[in-house]
Formats: sequence, C-alpha cells, structure tokens
Amino acid sequence: MSIAVFYGSTTGNTEEVGNKIVAKLSGLDIDTYNVSDTPVAVVEAYDLIIFGIPTWDYGEIQENWLEVWEEVDDLDLSGKTVAFYGLGDQYGYPEWFLDAMGMLHDKVVARGAKVVGHWPVEGYEFEASKALTADGKHFVGLAIDEDWQRDQTDERITRWTQQLLTETGLST
Ligand SMILES: Cc1cc2nc3c(=O)[nH]c(=O)nc-3n(C[C@H](O)[C@H](O)[C@H](O)COP(=O)(O)O)c2cc1C
Repeated sequence: MSIAVFYGSTTGNTEEVGNKIVAKLSGLDIDTYNVSDTPVAVVEAYDLIIFGIPTWDYGEIQENWLEVWEEVDDLDLSGKTVAFYGLGDQYGYPEWFLDAMGMLHDKVVARGAKVVGHWPVEGYEFEASKALTADGKHFVGLAIDEDWQRDQTDERITRWTQQLLTETGLST
C-alpha cells in the first residue's frame, strides 16, 4: 500500500504533527508533501492519503490549502482510503474548532474516498465544529490542539496511528 501525508501549515504546527505521524508509522514507506509546493493531484498516485489541515481566521481554510481548494474538486479518489488530521485552538476559537478539517473531509469524500481514523470528542472543550461526524460523537479525523493541549499530542498521535494501522489492515 503506497502512503502519502499531504498537509498545509502556516506556523509549522501541522507540519510538525505530520512528521510525528510519519515517525510513528515507522517501517512504512511514506511520502510527505506540503500543499504550498506540490500540486494536490499528486495524491492520486497513493492508496492511503493522510491529509493535514489547520483552521485559521474564524473557521477558514489555511492559506495554502485555499489556493488549491477548487482543485480538490477535480481529484479522482475512487478506491482510495483517506484519513485526516486537523489543528485548531479549542479555547481561542471554540465556535470554529477544526472547521477546515471538516470542510476538506466533505470535499474529499465527495470525490469517492473511504475515510478511516475517526476520533472521539472526549477530552476537548468547544462549542461547535464542522469536523464532527453525523452523531457528534467523533471528529472526522485526529484532533490536535498545540495551543492548549500540546502535552497530549504525542500520546494522541500514538493512539491514532495504531488505530489507522488496524483500520487499514496494515498491522498484523
Ligand atoms: C488568527 C488565528 C485564527 C485562528 N482561527 C482558528 C479557528 O477558527 N479555529 C480553530 O480551530 N483554530 C484556529 N486557530 C488556531 C490554529 O489553527 C492553530 O494555532 C494551529 O496549530 C496552527 O497550525 P499551523 O502552525 O500548521 O498553521 C487560529 C489561530 C490564529 C493565530
């Protein structure tokens, strides 16, 4: 199974978390791309794509993702497995927590991809998020808050990557 991490990051947090995800999936060959310098269509070459996106400016898409936002609608992701991780600030922006992850999720699902890696909402405090599953019990991907819960990030990444390995059948 070919695997890519594809992220955008304004101040480096999403990049750093992407590197940690790759490190936790050691033993697997994973290519990492920054949306600021790689056409988003590169993801079509992979079986499993892990998308990383922070939310900015009251529920907005991160700036580099915004530049390619319409190109996502042209991707052919049928047969692909995808997972998401989102960065946000739950206390600073509680009405828009991780919104961009939800918006990217909806676009990618519309292109035919199957999603793995839903993540429980327990342990976070926020008022609203576009990144929730229909029943509101999960985020559509891993939720990371480097502003307030940095000390939990490594443990969350460890648990989530294990979950991904199980859900994709990559772990034995
Ligand atoms: C001006 C500003 C606006 C932000 N708006 C949101 C927001 O609407 N929702 C959210 O969850 N996080 C928001 N954040 C928090 C960022 O998503 C968070 O700091 C993230 O770790 C940044 O990731 P990056 O370093 O990869 O760009 C905002 C941060 C700043 C500085």
